Parts: sequence; C-alpha cells; structure tokens
Amino acid sequence: MGAEAKPDFRCFECGDLFEVEYPGWSQRKGNDRPNAGALKWLWRERRCSSEALDHSGVWRFRELLPILDSFGNAVTLREGNTPLYHLPRASKALGIDQLFAKHQGMNPTGSFKDTGMTAAMSVARERGFEWVACASTGNTSAAMAAYAARAGLRSLVLIPEGKIAWGKLAQAMDYGAVTCQLKTDFDGCLKLLIQVVKEAHIYLLNSVNPYRLEGQKTPAFEIAEALDWNVPDHLIVPGGNLANSSALGKGFRELRELGLVARVPRISVIQAEGANPLVRSMATSHGATLVPVEAHTRATAIRIGNPASWRKAARVIQETGGWCLDVTEAEIAIAKAELGTEGLGCEPASAVTLAGLKKLRAQGAVDPKETVVLLLTGHTLKDADYTIDFHRGTLLTDEETAGRETEIRGLRRDAQTVEATVGAVLAAMKERAG
Ligand code: F0G
Repeated sequence: MGAEAKPDFRCFECGDLFEVEYPGWSQRKGNDRPNAGALKWLWRERRCSSEALDHSGVWRFRELLPILDSFGNAVTLREGNTPLYHLPRASKALGIDQLFAKHQGMNPTGSFKDTGMTAAMSVARERGFEWVACASTGNTSAAMAAYAARAGLRSLVLIPEGKIAWGKLAQAMDYGAVTCQLKTDFDGCLKLLIQVVKEAHIYLLNSVNPYRLEGQKTPAFEIAEALDWNVPDHLIVPGGNLANSSALGKGFRELRELGLVARVPRISVIQAEGANPLVRSMATSHGATLVPVEAHTRATAIRIGNPASWRKAARVIQETGGWCLDVTEAEIAIAKAELGTEGLGCEPASAVTLAGLKKLRAQGAVDPKETVVLLLTGHTLKDADYTIDFHRGTLLTDEETAGRETEIRGLRRDAQTVEATVGAVLAAMKERAG
C-alpha cells in the first residue's frame, strides 16, 4: 500500500479499497525465501514466552506483519490462539471425518474482530491519533472500544438503533466508547461515518482499513499450524461486510507465496438469505458487479446489504475455487443448535457456516475425504436472546419452520419451571431421558 490517500482508505482514482502488499514476497524463490522451518519453530516457541507480544496469536506471527515502525506500539489483549475443535457429531451426520471448527468467538471480546483490531489499533496509536471510530453491527464496536481503552484512545461507535445484540452494546458501553444509536441500518451508519472522518481527525477502524485485514489473516496461520502445516481442503466463512473471507484468503496466499505451505484451501462464503448481495452478484455477474440489497436477517451481525469488501471476497472465492451460497433463517437456527449439541456456542452469524456445509454436502460439492474447517466468528453469549427465543419456540415463524417442525422440536431445550423438590427434579430428568 502506498500513502494513505484518503481517510476512507479508498483510492483517489478508482475508488476501490487498498490492500497491504509486501513487494517481493510473491517473487521470492529458493534461497531468497525465509527459512520455513525456522519460522514455524519460532512461532510455536513464542507461545511459551512470558512476553505479551509473544502470547498474542496475532503478534507471534509478526514476521508476516511488518505494519508497525516499532512493535512496542502494539496494543494487545492476548488475542488469537483460538481452539480448532473437531466436530464429532456433525462429522458423523455429514460423513466427513475431518470436520473442524475454528472458534474465533474465544477471543478476548468474544469475536474474530479482535485479531484485526489489535493490528489496526496499533497503527492508530503509532500514528498518534486521539480518536478512532467505526460503524458496526456490534462486534467491531465491542472490539474497537476495548482496544481503544487499552491504548488510551477515545472511540466513537455508530450502530443501527435496535438492530444489534445487547451483549455487544453492553461491551461498547463498558469500554467507554461514545456510542451513538442511529435511526438507520449498518450500511447507513457506515456511509455517515465516512463523511464524519472526512471532516474530523479520526482514524477509521472499519474493515475498509487494510490493517484490520492484516490481523484477520492470522487465523489462517493458526489453522495451518494446527494441522501441521497441511492446509485444509476447504474453509467455510460467514459473509457480511466481506472482509474476513478476504483476509483469510490473503493469509493463505502469503503462506504459499513464502513457501510455508504447498497450496491454499478452497474458501467458500455463506450469507443469510435475506442479506445475500454477494450470492446474487456471483450468480448474475460472476462477481463483476454488486447491487446492494435491503438486508433482513435475525443473524444481526451479518445484516449488511452493501458490503464494502465484496470485490476482494469475490476474488478470493474465484481464485480458490470456492462457493458462495445463502441459507434460510431456519437453517441458521438449526445449525446453531446442532453446534450447541457439540458443546460449542456461537452466534447465529457463525452458524451459517455449518448450514452452508450441509447444503454443499447435499449437492455433492464436498467430498467425504476432505478436511473442512468452519470459521465460527462470535461467542454464543453475544446474543443470548436469539438462543433463548429458539429454545422457547418463539424465534421462527410458522412459515419459516414449515416442513422442519420435527427436526426443530428435537433440538429445542426449553428451561422448565419445576417444584423445589427432589421428586420433581428427578421426574424432569426422566422425562428428558425418555
Ligand atoms: N460473524 C460475525 C459474528 C460478525 O460480527 C461479522 C461482522 C461477520 C460474521 C461477517 O464478517 O463482515 O468480515 O464478512 N460483523 C461486523 C461488525 C460487520 O460490525 O461487527 P465480515
């Protein structure tokens, strides 16, 4: 990336987004390449170090993150190093032995945003900004507010009124952000914020900021590392503003360019049916043009109709041979409850990945021998209302559940009120067992 031409990170000439490039990495051959074995050893060793920077699952890969003049400016909450869980139940149901979930909800503020935020907030601090800002469906604002507080910076959050999960709003408040709820949707919030940052000296921390993507590429390194540097065949990612799919594609591409892995995985993007502009774009123009939609989904994190990074995401899908498809509200709710039965809690926006995989498997697009990784983006406690509504049977309409009533009933676990006696409790257990 050259000089930051505009505060909204768009090119003066073509209006497209910037991307951080490291000239020369792709051309490196033979002895010119970094010593792959030494790097892999160093990155693993750092996990045992007592240095804060080494404990971070982002900064322990800092050789591939040359974005700061001094790593002393890094703002870290020990993000990353999230677990890669095997999914025994879903594996069995889908006939895919090697099925895993990379749970990015296990980050300090409960979502994948922390990996990008540590990177971009560090840049903000190094450049001496006093204010940072973002528009958000909730998770970006939670992460930004936390990292700004750690860095000693002021933060401004613009969120769509009444359309984000309470857990996320609570985080922004707790970490001291100036939080404005606007009577518009996410797309409207982002549009307004772009105007604000052109008027005032504020560092924009939405994922249009290319340094966010630098941090968000690191789960690709962790996934490769966890699989002993054999990349999975297929990575499935939810799609909202479409930065994450772009970032992970970049991460795997850089590993391959530097000779650390032999190939890149297929990367597929799943959207909610009511917020599926990329699915439409891929189907109608192979990702050449995108027509914004008015977005509707209960998976509020991905309720986005005019995604900023759609060109980058379309390129990643095309270059890796991935798919782009959408899933219904019922499919999302069922997949989330199924992940729950594996002991894994996630946000509805994360569950689109399992719902998408089920569809791809039914279409014969995924081979049982493939190694598949689902990227779970947020923690279940972010949006407890959604989960409770599902289990109480008040989440979905009759129209949405039509034909799937039995399946849904089998997954629902409402909390019951019972008498405070041993007999009543034992009877409740018996009823469930039976
Ligand atoms: N999953 C969760 C839990 C999210 O919060 C988001 C985006 C996504 C998936 C989609 O990722 O935008 O990179 O395609 N949340 C943003 C926010 C928009 O403001 O928190 P994406």
